[in-house]
Order: sequence, then structure tokens, then C-alpha cells
Amino acid sequence: MSRNIIVFDTTLRDGEQAPGCGMNVREKLEVAKKLEKLGVDVIEAGFPASSSGDLDSVKAIAGMVKNCTVAGLCRCGEADVDAAREALTHAESPRLHVFLATSPIHLEYKLKMTPEAALEQAVAAVKYAKKFCNDVEFSAEDAFRSDPDFVRAIFGAVIEAGALTVNFPDTVGYALPGEFGERVRSIRERTPGMEKARFSVHCHNDLGLAVANSIAAIQNGADQVECTINGIGERAGNASLEEIVMALRVRKDFFGAETRIDATQIYAASRLVSQVTGVKVQPNKAVVGENAFAHEAGIHQHGVLANPATYEIMTPESIGIPKNRMVLGKHSGKHALADRLADLGLSVDTETLEKVFVAFKDLSDKKKAVSDRDLEALAMDTIQIPETWKLDHWAVNTGSALGASGTIRLVHKDGSARKLVTLGDGPIDAIFLAINHIIGKSPELELYEIGAITGGSASQGETMVKIALNGRRWNGRAVSTDVVESSIKAYLAAINAMEWDLAGGRG
Ligand code: KIV
Ligand code: ZN
Repeated sequence: MSRNIIVFDTTLRDGEQAPGCGMNVREKLEVAKKLEKLGVDVIEAGFPASSSGDLDSVKAIAGMVKNCTVAGLCRCGEADVDAAREALTHAESPRLHVFLATSPIHLEYKLKMTPEAALEQAVAAVKYAKKFCNDVEFSAEDAFRSDPDFVRAIFGAVIEAGALTVNFPDTVGYALPGEFGERVRSIRERTPGMEKARFSVHCHNDLGLAVANSIAAIQNGADQVECTINGIGERAGNASLEEIVMALRVRKDFFGAETRIDATQIYAASRLVSQVTGVKVQPNKAVVGENAFAHEAGIHQHGVLANPATYEIMTPESIGIPKNRMVLGKHSGKHALADRLADLGLSVDTETLEKVFVAFKDLSDKKKAVSDRDLEALAMDTIQIPETWKLDHWAVNTGSALGASGTIRLVHKDGSARKLVTLGDGPIDAIFLAINHIIGKSPELELYEIGAITGGSASQGETMVKIALNGRRWNGRAVSTDVVESSIKAYLAAINAMEWDLAGGRG
């Protein structure tokens, strides 16, 4: 009989914490919906004590998710536990995840604490959390670089205090698979009371070994793996969910372990996370990269045509890449659109389908063939924050002799309208400056990236922007067959996310 491995997804916490991976609450809700559909066991929705925005998004996710446990991270202190329990009040199955560093370097330089005091604090926090929630997880941050005897002692003590899961992170991605596996086994086998709790691992990818280490841990008895979609996370990222899941699935013969994951949702989850964070998946990334199933060499193509198993150890369909690459056009109806969206793992409600259909009709008037990527982009446009500023119209003038100017008219949600003409260092600069003047704020433009969704000059331009103001960051993305328009819309999407946040999520 094969063992079930618990998949603890931390895309919305450790993943979101990574620079450039911020998501707004709407985007987080979409990702949480997708994770639920994917069948993860636990969604770590955020770190509620870290900001009111994080608390609100954990609350919103906890109120929506029905089929998985929702976890909130907290440091070992009552205020943090209180914030997390408040955020999880409406969760069907809540988990309080408390953590404390255990390595000598963290204890001495970060916490300025003795090991004895750390053990006491961890036990007190678990006992406090346990008053409100049966499902408590304790993580020993930087556990791999900690004294194994101390990790056993602290794990034994927190299990005694009621922790149902103990997590052994390789916080800095320092471990090598063989030694990590051995360490997991020796800690598991020699921790008092370990039979009453689950053993979890949480690996970072600084040496590119996060998945290998997680797999080594599973081979050595770990019950839970903590991971993220596309492997996003602090620095080089966390262990990638899709790689762990597919390794266990493809080599079931070897591991005798499986997960509850519906692998056919993997591709859609990967695309969604990439779209909402604006972080592209590297083309040669295992499982979900654009080239993961591309066969360039003639000899490979010949083999795959004769029998896909010659060069493919899993099929594209097994991770949800639709087989039928039929493109839609101006004569396609709403049913065809809904079917195609469902094939892409983008199931939308009736109201959203109406919106996507209107945008699809508009696009198919401009473009003969509407591709999967176009549809994905149209569906993404429906998960934006309510608009404080709506685009009414715009115009740009540019040329080598003239310099550039931009004109824009925006309508505020209170109904008032403002129009401005500005000169700039190029048309985009002119128009972004005009927007800044109108809204009365000058966020820093940290990223402005423009690309074509598909090939050809009729392709839609997709723009991604990241802006920052007073240390906070917001993303915006948009598509249009006109690149200036996609730039304006992306900038405005980021501005609207900023306005909404600055108004406390009530803009
Ligand atoms: O990497 C780490 O140690 C963490 C803990 C908070 C679980 O993210
Ligand atoms: Zn981490």
C-alpha cells in the first residue's frame, strides 16, 4: 500500500514573500481557489501579524476555502498567535503554524536568546495556540543548521505541548540530499513522542536541491512536504510543488508514495501564479516550462511521433496541457469559449464568462485567431481590484523630430473626470507622468515589461508593471492589440491596486 504524502502549499506565504511576487487580495483568492482545485492538503495563506493587508487576505481565504486546511504563520508570541487565530476564525479547518529559529547563528545574532529560553518560548507558544486550535504546527527555522540534539529536544517538547506537526526546514538551502535524508530519519526516529505527530520538511533552493532534498526526506519517512507553485519563494525559491508531485507520480514504482493532487490542474495553477505575480517560468523548467514537452531535434521528433514514450516520461495531458490546440475566432460562440476556458483549467462563473465573452468578441474583431494565451489573458483581466481610476481615452504623439507627448482622460470613481497633456521622454513616460499628475502620487516604476503573447504582428501586447510607494509594492498587467494601450492599462491596474490598498482595501 502506498503512503500518502501531505502537500502543504506555501505559495501565498513564502512564495508571496519573495521580491516581485506580491499579490493583491483578489489575486490571492484566485490562487487559493486554484490550489483547492489542485487538491493541496494545506494552504498557508499568509502571515497575519505581518500587516493588516495580510491579515485581511488570510481572513478572506479562510472564509472561502472549504476542502483544505488553511494555515496562518505566527512567531512564538501571543500577539502573533492572536492575529492568526483572528484571521482563521471562519476557516473550516484552521491550522496555527508557529515558528522559532533554533540554529546557533539565529539564536545568537537574530534572537539573542539561549537555546533553553527558545525551547521555553516555543512550548509556551504551542500551548497558547492550542487553546484556540487543535491543529498546531511548529517549525524550527534553520533546523538543518541546528544542533540535531536540540532539534530533537524542542520537537519532543512541542509535541508534548500539543503540536500535531513538527517541521524541519532547510531555511537557507544548505543541505545535500543524502545528508538531509539521513538527518530526517535520525531526528524522526529519536524524537520522543514522534508517533503522535507528523514530520514535515520545508526546503529552500539556494543550491538547486530543494526538490531533491524534499524527495530524500520522503524516502526517509517525512509525512508532509512544504512547497510552492513554480518553486517561487525567498531568494532562489522553495521546493517546487509540481516537481515533487510528478516525481512521486512518475516514479510511483520506486517511492510507493502518492499525494492527493489532481495533476491535471498543475499547468493551469502554474500559469495562474506566473500571471498574477508577473514572474515568468523559465522555459526549461521541469514539468511546467514552455519547453518541457517540446522536441526540437529531428530524431526526437521522429521518436515521439512513433511513440511519445520514446522521449516523454509523462504526457502533457497528465499535467493539464490541453491536447486540442484549436484556436477560436469571430464565429465561435459562448459555449465554445466556455469549453476552451475549462480545457485550460480556467473555470469561470456565469458573470465572468459574460465579461470574457465580450472581450473575446472585441478581440476576435481585431485578430483572426484567438489563441489559448489570449484567452488566458482575457480571463486574468477579470480578477482586478475595483477601479478607483477608469481610463476614458488617451492619445500619444511621438517622433524623432518632435519629442513625445501624451494626453489622457481618467474618470474617478466619484464621477469626476480629469484630462491632462504632458511631455515626456517617450510616449509611455509622457502618459505615465500625466497619470501621476492626475492621481497626485508619484510611485516609483520598478518594472515595466512588454511582450507579445503569441507570434505575429497582430499579436496582443502584454504589459507587466510593478510600482512602489513608501516601501510597498503593487503589480499591474494588461493586454491589448495596441502596446501603448496595454501599457496604460497595466499602469492603471497597479495604480488601482495601490489606491485600494492605501484606502484599507475599501477604495
Ligand atoms: O524557511 C523557513 O524556515 C520558513 C519557516 C517560517 C517555516 O519559511
Ligand atoms: Zn521558507
